[in-house]
Amino acid sequence: MNKPRVWITRKLSANTEARAERDYDVVLNPQDSVSSAADIIRMSAEVDAILPCHSEIFDADTVRQLDPRLKIIANHSVGVDHCDLVALKARGICVTNTPDVLSDATAEIAMLLLLGAARRAPEGDLMVRNGEWDSWSPSFMVGTQVSGKRLGIIGMGRVGQVMAKRARGFDMTVHYHNRTRLPPELEQGAIFHPDLATLLAVSDFLSLHCPATPASTGIINADTIAQLPDRAIIVNTARGALVDEAALLAAIESGKLAGAGLDCFGTEPGGNPAFARHDNIMMLPHIGSATAETRDAMGFRALDNLDAFFAGQEPGDRLV
Ligand code: DGY
Repeated sequence: MNKPRVWITRKLSANTEARAERDYDVVLNPQDSVSSAADIIRMSAEVDAILPCHSEIFDADTVRQLDPRLKIIANHSVGVDHCDLVALKARGICVTNTPDVLSDATAEIAMLLLLGAARRAPEGDLMVRNGEWDSWSPSFMVGTQVSGKRLGIIGMGRVGQVMAKRARGFDMTVHYHNRTRLPPELEQGAIFHPDLATLLAVSDFLSLHCPATPASTGIINADTIAQLPDRAIIVNTARGALVDEAALLAAIESGKLAGAGLDCFGTEPGGNPAFARHDNIMMLPHIGSATAETRDAMGFRALDNLDAFFAGQEPGDRLV
């Protein structure tokens, strides 16, 4: 029997590509180039499955033009805001993602950004790096202490829960806003806020861990930022669409926010050049899940979903 033909859109970990080549007739992308809608539409006629990243956009218009040969999109990502799930469901195309396996890595980056923004890491690093560190005094580079402060989490899914665990290591009190309250064994003492407003009011630090959906787009805006305590710090390792970047910039410039830590931006790749004027914004280029271990785990999870699908079983991470 012929092996199913799978297009892996980006260069994945060597272990992932080796396993894929063992089990499938694989089209790889050794140049790691980004594919356009036209590429996706063309390739859909040549493969039974696509294993894409969040860099490939399956919007309604693209999905409408996909070839009937394509049966499954096994994403190498937990976020699926690049996929129009309603359109894909209507076309009968199975869609899966890779939850769980990137929670530790992403929470590490969230904590790095939280600590870095609080303790002025970008500014300090640049100063030493540029040979500009020429004095010291007790009033020099005084930052915001993290230990014992209140952390608000929006989206208490898997990443949010790991972030809460890490924050407890810093004696932070964890508050969260989520669609539903977690059971006590997952809540681990975190304080549930059914209303976003009450969460914002107690968030010395606010970390975003919810998916980007029409409902959550722009959830951080001038109005919600105003409800935070003065000198709060916002961390975003989820999706750029959650934040109104003009409002965030205004709050940094007015001093309402003491800082921000951002791994995600409205424009990716590239980010927001206006943020570069402020060294109390620590920025990273969407690398929340970028560890060797997690890349293997994401690749294997996507392949597990493909294996199940082509064995006639229900993929564990099927979304539609
Ligand atoms: C995810 O998995 O959603 C990460 O943002 C990387 O794509």
